[in-house]
Amino acid sequence: MWFYITHEYNKMVGEKTSKQKRRRRIYYLIFIIIILLLILAFSIAKRHSSNGDGSEVSSKEELFKSFIDRVNELEKEAQEYGENVSITLNSGKLLTYIVYPEGDNDVLNKNIKSWVDETLNQYLKDSKDNTSELSIKSSSYVVDNKYVSVVLNGTYDNSSYAHPEDIVKTFTIDLKNNTIVSLNNIFSKKEIDKIKENVVKEAKLDVSVLDDNLLDDFIFTDYGLKIYLKRGKYTPMSDGNINVELKEDFFKKNNIAYINSKKAVQKETIDKKIVVNKVEVDEKLKAKKLIALTFDDGPSKETNRLLDILEENNAKATFYVLGSQINKYSDELIRIAKDGHEIGNHTWDHKQLTKLSSKKVEEEIMTTRAKIFNTVNVDALAIRAPYGSVNANVKAIAKKLNMYFVHWSIDTLDWKTRNANSTYKAIIEHAGDGQIILCHDIHKQTVDAMDKVIKKLKADGYEFVTVSELFKLRDKEFEAGKVYYNAK
Ligand code: NI
Repeated sequence: MWFYITHEYNKMVGEKTSKQKRRRRIYYLIFIIIILLLILAFSIAKRHSSNGDGSEVSSKEELFKSFIDRVNELEKEAQEYGENVSITLNSGKLLTYIVYPEGDNDVLNKNIKSWVDETLNQYLKDSKDNTSELSIKSSSYVVDNKYVSVVLNGTYDNSSYAHPEDIVKTFTIDLKNNTIVSLNNIFSKKEIDKIKENVVKEAKLDVSVLDDNLLDDFIFTDYGLKIYLKRGKYTPMSDGNINVELKEDFFKKNNIAYINSKKAVQKETIDKKIVVNKVEVDEKLKAKKLIALTFDDGPSKETNRLLDILEENNAKATFYVLGSQINKYSDELIRIAKDGHEIGNHTWDHKQLTKLSSKKVEEEIMTTRAKIFNTVNVDALAIRAPYGSVNANVKAIAKKLNMYFVHWSIDTLDWKTRNANSTYKAIIEHAGDGQIILCHDIHKQTVDAMDKVIKKLKADGYEFVTVSELFKLRDKEFEAGKVYYNAK
């Protein structure tokens, strides 16, 4: 427009010196450049302001996309037998997180438990001089109501080892005879040879290293038979653990009776997608003594009873959950959110973050964050690092993800004492305004202690709030990448 007017004007006034024209053209050019710069500055500012804004669902879905794919992969393994029992231990040099199932078959329970105890003792001895981490999880399948198969697998990472050691242990029980069986008890010699031949072919094994134990570690799954080959036993160490899966078509082709696993029964969940994470506080609470109960490692089979106790006593708490526990205990997570408690992130499967690569750290955190968001529509930004273990790199990753750490100021050591009275004492003796108390809602005795703890502290003038409420009521804000221990 302006160009046009000046052009007309020039025509009207007739002659102008070329010097004047050139100067004018330079002014226009400068003007255009300024406009372009302003547009650029605006668009950058706009992009920045939309960063970390929780209301933008599409960007959130975008953020979680790759991690949800990973969650689906991680959740492929089934838990069809019993309830999960976990052992968390931080004893001197060894950090431990073991999950195993406990169901209604005593023979299977006993076999699993004695292997877990033996393994734990062995590694406790081994780790006397070096810091190390033992991490074991499990999957289980109920097959045709004839067999139950359980696999326990994980790693032992000792700082003096070049590689982490892989751990695999399998159990299959014949429910009719109530005995633990091997493949030799189930298939004929000829069938076993066929299976062996196929495993050798699939895993590209060198025939010279084979022995009679090749098929020792097996489970029946939803799709057939899975053989575990331990790292370094039949293949080079660098190959890691190898699994061979023989599916329905293999059994059909070789005319071997195929064992069908019933599909895991999908639990019906109560209506999902509830709440949001806006922290609303009652300003009147500011005048009271405030304390935050926090529960790690769940949700578990104990969580519902704890939620009942909190509800009866009108107390709020914070739950730092493991992503790997959510599928099985999604109803519990939904109830946590519905009852107005806070949900935080305790990683996917309780690995010590300082020992992982940056990529793995991000995956541990983000798969859990995505799973929580998918289940209860809450974007939980607080992380409680397993074993309270963080370093500069882990903090930098949290900062990048717009997340922060909430650790604790009172450690009940409930995992160690496993005694309701000890847990009660640990809390009452150290209670104070602004404190954050570390407990675990995976232990029966911890939940047993809570009714008495809450009643006593309420009588002493305390109010139980979530960690976010505690900080808001004490006018404190969370900053990405930082670690908080209390609100004092
Ligand atoms: Ni923990």
